[in-house]
Amino acid sequence: MDLPFHGKKVLLRVDFNVPLDEKYHITDDTRMQAALPTIKKILDQGGAVILLSHLGRPQKKRLPDGRLDTERFTLRHLVPRLSELLQRPVVFSEETVGPKAKEKAASLLPGEVLLLENTRFNPGETSGDPDFARQLAELADLYVNDAFGTAHRRHASTAVVAEYFPKGKKSFGLLMERELANARKVLEQAEHPMTAIIGGAKVSDKLLLLERLVHFADRLIIGGGMAYTFIRAQGGHTGQSLVEEDRLDVARKVLSTAKERHTEIHLPADSIIANRFAPDAETRVCSSYEIPDGWMGLDIGPQARQQFAETISTSKTILWNGPMGVFEMPAFAEGTKEIAKAVAAATKNGAFSLVGGGDSVAALKQTGLDKAVSFVSTGGGALLEFLEGKKLPAIESMEK
Ligand code: 3PG
Repeated sequence: MDLPFHGKKVLLRVDFNVPLDEKYHITDDTRMQAALPTIKKILDQGGAVILLSHLGRPQKKRLPDGRLDTERFTLRHLVPRLSELLQRPVVFSEETVGPKAKEKAASLLPGEVLLLENTRFNPGETSGDPDFARQLAELADLYVNDAFGTAHRRHASTAVVAEYFPKGKKSFGLLMERELANARKVLEQAEHPMTAIIGGAKVSDKLLLLERLVHFADRLIIGGGMAYTFIRAQGGHTGQSLVEEDRLDVARKVLSTAKERHTEIHLPADSIIANRFAPDAETRVCSSYEIPDGWMGLDIGPQARQQFAETISTSKTILWNGPMGVFEMPAFAEGTKEIAKAVAAATKNGAFSLVGGGDSVAALKQTGLDKAVSFVSTGGGALLEFLEGKKLPAIESMEK
């Protein structure tokens, strides 16, 4: 991120898509914290920062009368916290582009910060409208993209706007650089043995990732709801567990590729099963291959936790994406927490670990272990697509 920031106005795309409670208080400011080094670097070097971000999906969640819910999705909710984090006032523009936004951007002095209103209030954002992108570009001298979490979207403020800045006037931010370097470390420079721990409800969400990982991971640990599709594919009895019947073939293909390539597949030998999908359901420990009818697997069992932890402990590179059970219900969160502990312990012993995806990151935080892994990604969908080997539009447009 070496641009001549001194005396310049810098359009900085961040991903401030943070969770808010019903009173619009920020419940997790990780993404704001993660962008601070870039903001501070520009300010310290004598630049002025014009922040751009989306928040939620306002075009899809309109009010019953069809208007935008500007009260819920305004970025104004973030101003007090941002100003606290930066220890300086933050000017807010209720326009993203237009005469008022122009005026506020034009009067910005070095060391000052302007936050523009939610980019997605403008329908041109998600459609990648070149005119909207041009109006954004006209607000500043330089463009920096630090929004890794949104890099998989070809939107006006993430990808199209970069086309209005020539090389030498645009750059990735520090967070984007770290995200890309760490993801590449796993994909291209992994020390072996490399273990990928993949969880989550559905095989269909992680299909491409599993198909890719089976080629370059040495060990693939599969947990969460998706494990039962694999167990059924192997002939196990899975009761009422979540099984995607139309993905059994995919699961079989992953298993046979693993055999050919000598990739170890680790599925949970046992599960915590429940008689209902509810936090207060009756529970039992049971073999994952003999789940009785009327019962469903909602977490990995004690034997699986121990086996997975042993596999993790002898790994040199670890990628973890997705929970091992229904993590949001305390009765089924233990397996995921044990994996968090195992990844932290392996990291302490010298392994490189990258964790991404909402629930696995939440599990790390709940166990107080988010600082005990090598890197926690701010990307959900973006990280997944990058690991799947897809080209991310925001990255491609920067390299043009
Ligand atoms: C995210 O939260 O994953 C990013 O901010 C992207 O949001 P989107 O899925 O609404 O594009």
